Amino acid sequence: MTRVGTIEFRALTEADVPMLHDWLLRPHVRQWWGPAESVEELREDYLTGGSTHAFIAHLAGEPIGFIQSYVVLGSGDGWWEDETDPGARGIDQFLAHAGQLNRGLGRAMVREFVEQLFADPVVTVVQTDPSPHNARAIRCYTAAGFAAVGEVVTPDGPALLMRCHRPPASALR
Ligand SMILES: CC(C)(COP(=O)(O)OP(=O)(O)OC[C@H]1O[C@@H](n2cnc3c(N)ncnc32)[C@H](O)[C@@H]1OP(=O)(O)O)[C@@H](O)C(=O)NCCC(=O)NCCS
Repeated sequence: MTRVGTIEFRALTEADVPMLHDWLLRPHVRQWWGPAESVEELREDYLTGGSTHAFIAHLAGEPIGFIQSYVVLGSGDGWWEDETDPGARGIDQFLAHAGQLNRGLGRAMVREFVEQLFADPVVTVVQTDPSPHNARAIRCYTAAGFAAVGEVVTPDGPALLMRCHRPPASALR
């Protein structure tokens, strides 16, 4: 396991979009994230507001990955139509550099981001939804504190819904 320092999340800006586009074309990302959108589509998706907040994760000042959070309730377009909890958040993420996979960095990034989400007292639970075939992601999220709820069918296809509930107050920093 790699020893990791503090992971910092900086809100995605216009200047990050070409880098994000380059990352999305990388085979290890495309395999699980689907076809890369154009730079224009990325701008439209990530820079025009809404309830999704996108970040570039940095380790020791270097960009290492992408992570986003969204409000689950009212996602629209057929997503999460059974959700009733306004405190539920969802996350999606990937590491940018193939050489950094399987070294514990993903779980460190997810843990840190989830902890920051729970710093908001209205957040009750965080979910993520890897492909049921993405064994590496499922193992990473399990190590980061998520438990499988079950398989669901999303507008993007089958997914394993995983949830991490707010820890007791005494466990939060
Ligand atoms: C998913 C991702 C964020 C996980 O981050 P990571 O740093 O690689 O993951 P970690 O090192 O924390 O954990 C990976 C675990 O999976 C295990 N693993 C790797 N490949 C595996 C496989 N094919 N089957 C089962 N386990 C596997 C690793 O051994 C490690 O387990 P362990 O250290 O507990 O033994 C990262 O791999 C990634 O970005 N992948 C490409 C894009 C992607 O899949 N994004 C997620 C979409 S939901």
